[in-house]
Amino acid sequence: MTDEILKNIEAKYRQLGENHATYLQGLLHAKPINYWDYVEVETLLTLQRPRTRFKDESIFIMYHQVTELVLKMMLHEVEQLVGEDLPADTWAVKIERLNRYTSMLINSFDVMKYGMDYDDYNTFRSTLTPASGFQSAQFRLLEIYCTRPENLLNTEGKKRLGEATDIETIFENIYWKDAGTDRSTGKKSLTLRLFEEKYLAQFVALAKKVQGNTLQDKALKMPDMPDILREKLRAFDRMFNIEWPIVHLETAQHYLDSKGEGKAATGGSEWKKYLHPMYQQRKFFPHLWSNQEISDWGKQ
Ligand code: HEM
Repeated sequence: MTDEILKNIEAKYRQLGENHATYLQGLLHAKPINYWDYVEVETLLTLQRPRTRFKDESIFIMYHQVTELVLKMMLHEVEQLVGEDLPADTWAVKIERLNRYTSMLINSFDVMKYGMDYDDYNTFRSTLTPASGFQSAQFRLLEIYCTRPENLLNTEGKKRLGEATDIETIFENIYWKDAGTDRSTGKKSLTLRLFEEKYLAQFVALAKKVQGNTLQDKALKMPDMPDILREKLRAFDRMFNIEWPIVHLETAQHYLDSKGEGKAATGGSEWKKYLHPMYQQRKFFPHLWSNQEISDWGKQ
């Protein structure tokens, strides 16, 4: 066994034009790796910087960071599905991972809904204006990888789009711009303007790059999709585009409207309407749903 390992090491470095003995010599002096270095724990723990004296603001920051890491895990899977030609059984494994991650996000959202002091949250949140989770770029990247851009239009967006099919015009009318655009005047909120300045070009470029190869396109081209994969894709669509939006909306309702006071959100959207899946109509795999299921989207 040891001989074989040595032979393989020698072959590896020979291929690189290097002497393997020098590298083995180096191993003699290398310090063992530690958990804290490998996981970069110390760097990670420097990344929470509250802007107020309220203790629960740290919870708010950390839970957003946890979510961003989970979104990164999801993008890690989706990029492989879109970028490589993987067989149906690997698809099933990877979509199951996406479902597991999405369940984590849904089931842990109580950390936000019940895990912060109501009055403290309602005080420190004003310090964060005009920032909003709305500006999560990874959330938008996932959408772009998962589906054709025309599925990111709501009914009004589809009407405005008319016959146009180019990606720029689709993005002009994309559902999420409704969170910060007065459609009668075209005026945009600061939250939306700053988000677009930073990321819009990147989003459009990615949508062009993956055109014809999104998860939905690939699923459509899959001959005889196994039932099990079909069910997993439907579960992903339902969890990401109905269940997470509902727990998120209920949390907004808890803090912003549980006493019927209809407070403004930090991102300034008409959030009660904007955040509801029934209004957003965001679906990744519309071809996997019946007409009835589509017209009942988000109406629980
Ligand atoms: C107390 C907790 C939370 C409240 C009250 C809340 C509230 C809101 C509101 C009102 C919006 C609409 C945009 C605006 O006007 O600001 C929004 C959007 C959004 N938030 Fe949150 N949020 C909370 C936690 C989170 C967390 C933990 C995340 C995770 C990253 C998140 C991600 C998002 C995303 C992705 C959007 C855009 C949704 C879409 O376009 O469909 N939010 N949030």
